[in-house]
Amino acid sequence: MSNQTFTMIKPDAVKNGYSGIILDRIIKAGFHISAMKLTRLTPEKAGEFYAIHKERPFYQELVSFMSSGPIIAAILIKENAVEEFRDLIGATDPSKASEGTIRKLYAGSVGENAIHGSDSDANAQFESNFFFTDQERF
Ligand code: RTP
Ligand code: MG
Repeated sequence: MSNQTFTMIKPDAVKNGYSGIILDRIIKAGFHISAMKLTRLTPEKAGEFYAIHKERPFYQELVSFMSSGPIIAAILIKENAVEEFRDLIGATDPSKASEGTIRKLYAGSVGENAIHGSDSDANAQFESNFFFTDQERF
């Protein structure tokens, strides 16, 4: 079990003004923010980040959406971080997400679902390293 996960507040949530309230939820849930930046993915970088989904029918749409505007990327630290954070954000499809989860509250659709959370310790490592150097972590 690792204590690290990676998140992005996606372009829809940043655009809709939910960055502050989502970060507040994350902090109040006990996650330490180890690194954070407001940035924007190029289509090339978004494609690389989601390369695992390359063969899926929604890949092009996903890459185009994830590069459509600024995002907030962050590394989060907590015991059992990957699982606990997936619980906090809720199901991929917000209409199926549990009450009180971030996606239930702030996401509009399965394609534009407000927030990303790593799905394994290995991906948490890969995704954190994709965005941040060691010097950018606290
Ligand atoms: P994420 O990686 O963004 O945290 O989301 P997730 O693990 O809950 O879902 P995943 O299966 O990894 O899918 C990545 C993102 O692709 C979009 N998607 N669209 N139209 C569709 O049926 C569909 N399915 C997935 C979502 O934006 C999802 O977050
Ligand atoms: Mg995923």
